[in-house]
Amino acid sequence: MASPLILAIDQGTSSTKALLVDGEGRVVSRASAPLAETQPRPGWVEQDPEELWQSVRRAVAACVTPDQARRVAGVGISNQRESLVLWERRTGKPLGPLLSWQDQRTVGRCRELAAEAELVRSVSGMPLDPMFSALKARWLLDTYGRSEVCLGTVDSWLLSRFGGEHVIEAGNASRTQLLGVETARWDPGLLELFGVPDEVLPRVVSSFGPFPAVRDLAPLPDGVPVLAVLGDSHAAMFAHAGWRPGVVKATYGTGSSVMAVGGGRSAGLCRSIAWDLGDGPVPAVEGNIRATGRTITWLSELLGVPAETLLAEAEGTDAGGVTFVPAFGGLGAPWWEPDATPVITGFSLGTRRAQLAAAALEAVAFQVEDVVTAVEEAAGQVRVLMADGGLTRSARLMRLQADLSGRTVARSGEHDLSALGAADAAGLAAGFWTTEELERRPRPVEEFRPAADDSYRRARHATWRAAVRRARPCEE
Ligand code: G3P
Repeated sequence: MASPLILAIDQGTSSTKALLVDGEGRVVSRASAPLAETQPRPGWVEQDPEELWQSVRRAVAACVTPDQARRVAGVGISNQRESLVLWERRTGKPLGPLLSWQDQRTVGRCRELAAEAELVRSVSGMPLDPMFSALKARWLLDTYGRSEVCLGTVDSWLLSRFGGEHVIEAGNASRTQLLGVETARWDPGLLELFGVPDEVLPRVVSSFGPFPAVRDLAPLPDGVPVLAVLGDSHAAMFAHAGWRPGVVKATYGTGSSVMAVGGGRSAGLCRSIAWDLGDGPVPAVEGNIRATGRTITWLSELLGVPAETLLAEAEGTDAGGVTFVPAFGGLGAPWWEPDATPVITGFSLGTRRAQLAAAALEAVAFQVEDVVTAVEEAAGQVRVLMADGGLTRSARLMRLQADLSGRTVARSGEHDLSALGAADAAGLAAGFWTTEELERRPRPVEEFRPAADDSYRRARHATWRAAVRRARPCEE
């Protein structure tokens, strides 16, 4: 009989990826389907929940042949986090758009709740910020009604397409800002503060479920079990075998997430749940940066050249004195200032496109390094930073990251690490492999070692910090 396969689905901000993995963890097929976002007003970022679901169906249909479909033993899902959907309980029909994690429409409400910020942070583990789902929940309920409706993050929304109970995975739930990070339950105080009734929320389940089995996901037959669900950043951590002590990873996506498993604390970081493999929630610290890959796509849209051209041009030049703080929608970790605004300094008449591209890449590296420094406070010294995500294809970025941080950067040889993490977790749930086997599994990395000295680093960081001060309104 043909050997069984695992299907991983990574539902991300700009696309859905599907990956088919065999019993040895080898990728046998992959496909992706794009997903659009709209900005109907400044600071508002929306997606269409139906289109999101269709992007999942398209990616799966393009990845899996009918023959392979019969061999799929189970599905693992990883997904963009914090983004929120409201739908009608009876029909499953979405009410309004998906509010993206990038959406800033609730920034004013954040200011009104400033007196509660410390309480919110201590209970939920995260700063009061429009990125998290809580204030989006309130906005959706106030706009579309709260009777006979369901609220859910993207995992919850996708699982609702399969029918069955309204559920959410624990790590995803921890990113809503409605969960007590210590209790791993919806927190009554937070629900009251944010005006979200308990009955519209899903039941929190472990990363191994139980989840409804797939339905209407051709060419898979209905009834294939969903074995594991993880937030995308958490899934990438899982693929790095990130349960081992000392592993710190940076995922370079639309935004970036720097994460380490463990219960330490640092003022600029979130405390959340990495995953729950059925034996209790595993704590994590994480810092989120709003615009990393998004900085490059913004520049490419602005200048009318493909992102690949910009990355290629940035290979051969430095930033020529330009410093770019891409505080689109404010600054995330470690500053958490939704009112910060983008700043570009050091321009001259001689500034060229390639230098802007190089400054954008430097901004990615500086932002990641600021968060890695905060992670060191919580988790101890970071000698090697594990790197994954689409933007790591830029060798220039990897070299910059190593030089500006003074650490070795280990770039994953696999671009779709979140999907792979979902496959790893699903295969673990299916008994395909153990965590020890996952740790031993060869997963190629390419190392970039720092070539610059401390004085270079100090000077560059001083320039960066001066530009960050100009981006932060409270510093003026
Ligand atoms: O926290 C938001 C994050 O989960 C989105 O990830 O890969 O879709 O940019 P990505």
